Amino acid sequence: MGGGPGATDLLTLRGYRALMTADVVVVDRLGPLQVLDDLPASVEVIDVGKTPGHHPVPQHEINAILVEQARRGLTVVRLKGGDPFVYGRGGEEVLACRAAGVPVEVVPGVSSALSVPALAGIPLTHRGTVGAFLVVNGHDGLDVGALAAVRDRTATLVILMGVSMLSEITDQAVTAGADVGTPVAVVESGSTEHQRVTRATLGTLVERAAQVGVRAPAVVVVGDVAAADLLVPALVPEMAR
Ligand SMILES: C[S@@+](CC[C@H](N)C(=O)[O-])C[C@H]1O[C@@H](n2cnc3c(N)ncnc32)[C@H](O)[C@@H]1O
Repeated sequence: MGGGPGATDLLTLRGYRALMTADVVVVDRLGPLQVLDDLPASVEVIDVGKTPGHHPVPQHEINAILVEQARRGLTVVRLKGGDPFVYGRGGEEVLACRAAGVPVEVVPGVSSALSVPALAGIPLTHRGTVGAFLVVNGHDGLDVGALAAVRDRTATLVILMGVSMLSEITDQAVTAGADVGTPVAVVESGSTEHQRVTRATLGTLVERAAQVGVRAPAVVVVGDVAAADLLVPALVPEMAR
């Protein structure tokens, strides 16, 4: 089940209902953890939370936990941040359950890839500006397709898990021919009380991010829609009224 970016009211109704029927909830570090307070005391919560670079519970063990709990005849909700099928390893967990004969239902969630920019007022497509977006994992830098999108301004680039790679990512983009003036926004901890938006350009991002101390989790948006004034109405000249 996808839990959305963090705020309880960005959970889907279907997700909330599923949680309320659970005997066991298996949770991660990200997602709407406050909703766990609404669970009846009888519900067992198992924390398999991962932090970047530190994986306390390996994926194969998480899969085993899901299967083992279900085989006890319990209703298990695997609560994940965002959407389970967007960098959530949801597919692997579904496979593991099906391989063990455990029936699975997938409850989609509001992915941070889409919702976190929106919460910061950044549209991923905007008529007359850009008509497509590309979601990538920043872990290993940008591939050829992502670099072409930024260089040619043909799609907004949405980077998840990219905070530790900002320097490599901007170097790669500029080396590939992207304009150093290309707008970038970094949105940290979207939908939580710590949400913060930092605006920069490809040329200034690294310095700006270091100045303000950007930290994960964050979504990095690269492209013309990340300009701070995109949704500021143009001033109507006095004469044109
Ligand atoms: C392993 S991926 C999981 C993505 C998730 N399944 C989704 O659909 O949102 C984790 C990354 O999602 C992004 N992320 C998740 N929640 C976020 C939030 N509330 N604010 C900013 N970024 C977030 C960050 O880039 C983080 O490193």
